[in-house]
Amino acid sequence: MKDKQIEKLIKEEEKRQKSVVNLIASENIVSDDVLKALGSKLTNKYAEGYPGRRYYGGNGVVDKVESLAIARALKLFKLKPTEWHVNVQPLSGSPANFALYSALVPLGGKIMGMKLSSGGHLTHGYPGSMTGKLWKPLQFELDKKTEVIDYDAIKKIAVEEKPNIIVAGFTAYPRVVDFKKFREIADACGALLHVDMSHFAGLVAGGAYPSPFPYADSVMTTTHKSLRGPRHAILFVKKDAREFDKKLDKMIIPGLFGGPHENTIAAAAVAFLEASKPEFKKYAKQVVKNARVLAKELQKLGWHIISGGTDSHLILMDTWMDGKGIPGKDASAKLEKAGIIVNMNTIPGDPRGPMDPSGIRLGTCAETTRGKKEADMVKLAVRMDKILRAK
Ligand SMILES: Cc1ncc(COP(=O)(O)O)c(C=O)c1O
Repeated sequence: MKDKQIEKLIKEEEKRQKSVVNLIASENIVSDDVLKALGSKLTNKYAEGYPGRRYYGGNGVVDKVESLAIARALKLFKLKPTEWHVNVQPLSGSPANFALYSALVPLGGKIMGMKLSSGGHLTHGYPGSMTGKLWKPLQFELDKKTEVIDYDAIKKIAVEEKPNIIVAGFTAYPRVVDFKKFREIADACGALLHVDMSHFAGLVAGGAYPSPFPYADSVMTTTHKSLRGPRHAILFVKKDAREFDKKLDKMIIPGLFGGPHENTIAAAAVAFLEASKPEFKKYAKQVVKNARVLAKELQKLGWHIISGGTDSHLILMDTWMDGKGIPGKDASAKLEKAGIIVNMNTIPGDPRGPMDPSGIRLGTCAETTRGKKEADMVKLAVRMDKILRAK
């Protein structure tokens, strides 16, 4: 590179990534092919509109790229193009959720989602997010005793409050989500069911987590977490008389965005192809196996694992334990000093604030990409325990 300053920083970051154990639950390590597509000359092209319907000329090749991404996304999740529509243009997860609500929920309508402190995302109606300002948020929490979703409690609120849309699929929830139960709740109050599968989409693709598609009206996923693609998002909506497909496409452009990032869409298409291979099925299963072992070993060493374990790539660990341990922020800092990267996180009913919470969130996607297996997780748990208990 001619720009030596940026070149040096890229190298520094590459070195940092190589030198640490990465347990950030929302990160992964993409293939060289994904990187090649991201850094390709597709970035030079403006392509406002959709394949065959572009505003600018010269989009013949880009149309093929986007059409391939669409076909691969549908195939990966075993969806019929007659039943599901996918828009592959959203720039990331937050604007994708925003676009979906904008398309399907009248302004001022009610969005029901999990509270941030229980594991929901900012864009599920957090009062500080525009999704909690332009729409009325109805926030539910996890059951304090079991630390899992209480479907009856959610149903009670939903039937009383009649939300327009219910969001299922979260940011820091380790367990399987019962999409059938969420469908029943949505039907009981006349709401749409939107599944945000950003965290576990790769596990769904690899057959290691239940698919939300038989139950949802719409599904959003980022492509950069368990799916192991570029920083991006895609949105699926049911194709039927409600015309969600047309409403969504119109909201993406001209409603919210301009030119799509076709280099990123190409990189997502590469990731979809990679995720459709038999090796990816093995990978997804190993991600869950690794998370289960890591959770179990940490629990054996005396740590409080929220909900008692995990069914996914994600572990929520209470490091504070009512004052018997250390705050999540300190735990994260101590681990980072020793070369293990995690993020501090609130735990259900957290007695401490979100900026200095009681726990940390762990995930096994990146380290499983690096080939780590169960035995490595056992060693990692011992190492983490020592670091966290050191004075
Ligand atoms: C469940 C969920 N939805 C949406 C997002 C937002 O994605 P992005 O950071 O790409 O805006 C995240 C990111 O952490 C997430 O976990």
